[in-house]
Amino acid sequence: MSDKIILNININNKEIKLNVEPRTLLIDILRNNLNLTGTHIGCDTSQCGSCMVLLENKCVKSCSILVAQCDNKSIKTIESIGKENNLSNVQKAFKNNHGLQCGFCTPGFIMSAIECKNNKLSSEDEVREFLDGNFCRCTGYQNIVKSITSFLKMP
Ligand code: FES
Ligand code: FES
Repeated sequence: MSDKIILNININNKEIKLNVEPRTLLIDILRNNLNLTGTHIGCDTSQCGSCMVLLENKCVKSCSILVAQCDNKSIKTIESIGKENNLSNVQKAFKNNHGLQCGFCTPGFIMSAIECKNNKLSSEDEVREFLDGNFCRCTGYQNIVKSITSFLKMP
């Protein structure tokens, strides 16, 4: 077993100190140590995007990076994006445009939608290209794209 390392990471606006093995994946810390289970594992080939989180405001697949790479950085997970009784605009856009079916992939799409907005994307083509790394196995892409383009028009 390898020696543990100490990391300081801001997760959902909270400073967290972790004592972990260097080989630990970010997704495992989020789900198993911090109980942030809204971030899902949908594949074992780094393709599906269900595990997407924002690292320093950029989308990353949390199954594909080591938590050690996040030292002194900030992470946002789906748990930081609105509340059941106080939805954020991106959640409202998905709700209003029926942008989810089983919902397993939805957290990843929501995080990608936020980066689309941060990157000031506006056209449907740009959104479709950006979503290259997110799979919806129910093939509900039409309404997901509609939801995101609608979110991009919101303030
Ligand atoms: S679980 Fe990370 S890309 Fe599928
Ligand atoms: S809603 Fe995306 S996989 Fe079902």
